[in-house]
Amino acid sequence: MKNILVTGGAGFIGSNFVRYLLKNYEDIRIVNLDLLTYAGNLDNLSDVSNDSRYSFCRGDIHDRALVEQLFDRYGFDTVVNFAAESHVDRSIANPDIFLTTNVMGTLTLLDVAKRHWKLDPDDKYSREFKEGVKYLQVSTDEVYGALGETGMFTETTPLAPNSPYSASKASADLVVRSYDKTYGMPVNITRCSNNYGPYQFPEKLIPLMINNCLNGKPLPVYGDGMQIRDWLYVEDHCAAIAAVLEKGRLGEVYNIGGNNERANIEIVKLIIHDTGRSEELIEHVRDRPGHDRRYAIDNTKITSELGWSPKYTFQTGMASTVEWYLHHRDWMDKIVSGEYMKYYEKMYANNALS
Ligand code: NAD
Ligand code: TYD
Repeated sequence: MKNILVTGGAGFIGSNFVRYLLKNYEDIRIVNLDLLTYAGNLDNLSDVSNDSRYSFCRGDIHDRALVEQLFDRYGFDTVVNFAAESHVDRSIANPDIFLTTNVMGTLTLLDVAKRHWKLDPDDKYSREFKEGVKYLQVSTDEVYGALGETGMFTETTPLAPNSPYSASKASADLVVRSYDKTYGMPVNITRCSNNYGPYQFPEKLIPLMINNCLNGKPLPVYGDGMQIRDWLYVEDHCAAIAAVLEKGRLGEVYNIGGNNERANIEIVKLIIHDTGRSEELIEHVRDRPGHDRRYAIDNTKITSELGWSPKYTFQTGMASTVEWYLHHRDWMDKIVSGEYMKYYEKMYANNALS
């Protein structure tokens, strides 16, 4: 049985990942450690919250005593770290929390896992770890910086992050790397392109545009809207992470992407079309400072080594995404009204283990 600590499991990708594991693996135990920041939402997991293989703990990955307590109690053999501050625009306004959570939080998880997994934790020269343990860091293609009109990111592309968000993710990747090189800790790093799908917080491009279309509000396109992202349906990302957990060679980085490069304006127009709105809603606004022009992932390593490939095309993924948001307007309205934040403050006031 796999005994997994998933962090950030109440966020967009983490909640899809928890659901993916419960659906596809019988013999599994998952503890979801999530601080429930503005981006964490237990509604994302309401359909699986009573599953006996799953439990939730509200807390901070940077809280060493709590992480120790969870390791002592559950004896995890696997950590998948999704927990992060994840929005570039917020990182431009307030970088501090990005460094604290994304770098120091990652260090805390790594260090507690090392102490629990090393056969002789007190011998600084020993590189022996328990059989079958693994720490997986969920990272992003943004650590590679921006591309020009041609080329793709491979796993050996030098790190050149441009935003405080991507700088914090790149820093965390380097700390993970150091735990492999220095201590021999079994780790993997995955670097995925932009995700879309159900349960994405409506500050990100696709759910924001869907929500604004549904409410007839202006659609704020940064600059000329010709920035390019390589979009992947979230379930395909989850399957890729599961493949790396099972088969990824220790110490390796795996890029994850679906060969789906689209300009932002193309996506906005598609959403306008799918929701029956008018292009008159488009409003070109001032560009994001330091805005990366283009991302593209070369996924050769993961497809050839691990046999993973995306199941969704952009057409099927977007169709199911728009349909999901159309059928879950309550979910969106609750977030936008801020009602769920008040609810969680009351419910989980004292960081208690569930
Ligand atoms: P998200 O913002 O939707 O979710 C982040 C989750 O982490 C939230 O539930 C939040 O409550 C939790 N969290 C934040 N700080 C915490 C802390 N200190 N302790 C415990 N929990 C904390 O983000 P997402 O889009 O689901 O991204 C998840 C991960 O995947 C991130 O590490 C991100 O960098 C990475 N990633 C995201 C994308 C994307 O397109 N969204 C692409 C590639 C990689
Ligand atoms: P976002 O979803 O924030 O992801 P990231 O910045 O991590 O790629 O943004 C995706 C693209 O959409 C990015 O080029 C910025 C752009 N964008 C807009 O044009 N308008 C918006 O309101 C938002 C949120 C993003």
